[in-house]
Amino acid sequence: MKDITHVAVVGGGTMGNGIAHVFAQNGFTVHLAETSRELPDKAVQTIGKNLSRMVAKEKITDDEKAGTLDRITTYTDLKAAVENVDLVIEAVPEIFELKKKIFQQIDDAAPDHTVLATNTSSISITRLAAVTKRPEKCIGMHFFNPVPVMKLVEVINGFETEENITDKIVTLADKLGKVAVPASDSPGFISNRVLMPMINEAIFCVYEGVADAESVDKVMKLGMAHPMGPLRLADFIGLDVCLDILNVLYEGFKDPKYRPCPLLVKMVDAGKLGDKTGKGFFNYTSK
Ligand code: 3HC
Repeated sequence: MKDITHVAVVGGGTMGNGIAHVFAQNGFTVHLAETSRELPDKAVQTIGKNLSRMVAKEKITDDEKAGTLDRITTYTDLKAAVENVDLVIEAVPEIFELKKKIFQQIDDAAPDHTVLATNTSSISITRLAAVTKRPEKCIGMHFFNPVPVMKLVEVINGFETEENITDKIVTLADKLGKVAVPASDSPGFISNRVLMPMINEAIFCVYEGVADAESVDKVMKLGMAHPMGPLRLADFIGLDVCLDILNVLYEGFKDPKYRPCPLLVKMVDAGKLGDKTGKGFFNYTSK
């Protein structure tokens, strides 16, 4: 089976640009696809900024930064981005219909040997794979934010994923300096099945007046050694993303224990989504 050397990343948002960064830094040729001209440029700017931070901390050299950026080419034409690569990682927003459309377009344009991976945080790999003509070559490759820092890659098999594809992706994660943890295709996989109920419960504590957001986070940081409290983390992930994932858990298991807290729903309705809008459980407008 052909080695993976050329990779396309579809979507240049927070996760997409982090994924492109990590592949390029580890010597892979990266095609970064976005829908409009400005978006890929913005993603590459972010990657440049994060690489400069690594240069400043003497983790990489200026030459390594330049080499990493040289290995990334941006595309606005999805077909051109994927027609010559060994692996595609889809990292578009968590909307099934959108992912389905993109997966079909990738499947039509990518070579037969190409593995199709999705960075979905909770959507069923089996459902996505079923819209392609190669379900055996579809897999979940779930990275964590900030991608250049977090060590984990959750690897999720769909119903028809071939064992050699899983092995290939686990080996690939190792080449990226990450640790792969395989999980089966169940709502939220391992990571979000455990993380989101904790975040939701932290929100219920605020909603029910048990404590304010600062106190809830202080307890988890100082008492449980979490690097960020659950509410700070929810803001960092995006409250809309947290709500989407909780809804996938709630609908997937039909279990009320995953019911999103009404306060979370209200904050999303009000457009208070966390870091990206400047306001969530905490205020970021001074940043
Ligand atoms: N690119 C490169 N390096 C980065 C970076 C980035 N985007 N962001 C931070 N860093 C580096 C910094 O340079 C620094 O390096 P150093 O250790 O050599 O000094 C290190 O990361 C720590 O950064 P800072 O000193 O600026 O800040 P903190 O010490 O506060 O750490 C944090 C920031 C790494 C984000 C830390 O708070 C943390 O680990 N938080 C938890 C993050 C987490 O749980 N992520 C998972 C979210 S869930 C998810 O993504 C899944 C999805 O499905 C919801």
